[in-house]
Amino acid sequence: MKTQKQTPYNYENAQKEATSWFNDHYKEANKDIETVAWAKGEVNPYLQEYLDNITQHPKKAIVVGSGLGDDAFALYLAGYEVTAIDISEEATSWAKERFEGAEIDFRVADLFDLPSELLNTFDFVFEAYTIQSLPLALRDRTITAIASLMKPEAKILTVCNAKLDHERFEGPPWPLTFNELRLFTMKSCRELEFSIFENTSELSSLKVRALFQKEH
Ligand SMILES: C[S@@+](CC[C@H](N)C(=O)[O-])C[C@H]1O[C@@H](n2cnc3c(N)ncnc32)[C@H](O)[C@@H]1O
Repeated sequence: MKTQKQTPYNYENAQKEATSWFNDHYKEANKDIETVAWAKGEVNPYLQEYLDNITQHPKKAIVVGSGLGDDAFALYLAGYEVTAIDISEEATSWAKERFEGAEIDFRVADLFDLPSELLNTFDFVFEAYTIQSLPLALRDRTITAIASLMKPEAKILTVCNAKLDHERFEGPPWPLTFNELRLFTMKSCRELEFSIFENTSELSSLKVRALFQKEH
């Protein structure tokens, strides 16, 4: 019997394809925030609520997929030393311009090819709507990469559109099932909070704000 040659899944191509359009989207916006599909021009309210309710702010924070920089700026105002990474040069220079004068390390960096000096470095990670913007085949890699930024005992706060297992949504974005988000618990993180909210948008039926902490 003839065996069919199996072609291994090409992660490199998939990553390139999944991320290359973001920069064009920011460029086409031509500095008009309202035309960036996900940008609100203000801090993510789930992050702000978290910041308003904690008494001790850890030192080093990173925002992953930082877009136009509002979440990085909120962390800076709360007293963190902030790094903000995004794959888009356009978004990064726009964010720098918007928050000129704030001491935030806005940099162009690819989550799938992180500079070594960022690994195991941060006390707090924030990500909103970036995991869901990357295809399902990259979900585990995305979560592994985000977790690699965390020091022991660091926390990650994540906000995403979510769905029940049987629901189908045409992506991007691809809302996360609860189990997909809980992949963090397989990356040496334990779950501290998992809040589920109703969502009325066509993007998903639910939203989740979850907090995980890296083990010692
Ligand atoms: C849906 S947007 C969300 C932006 C921002 N977090 C917000 O809530 O407005 C996803 C962001 O992730 C960035 N991104 C996508 N793939 C990335 C990667 N591999 N590494 C770093 N950033 C990435 C995009 O350029 C984009 O700014």
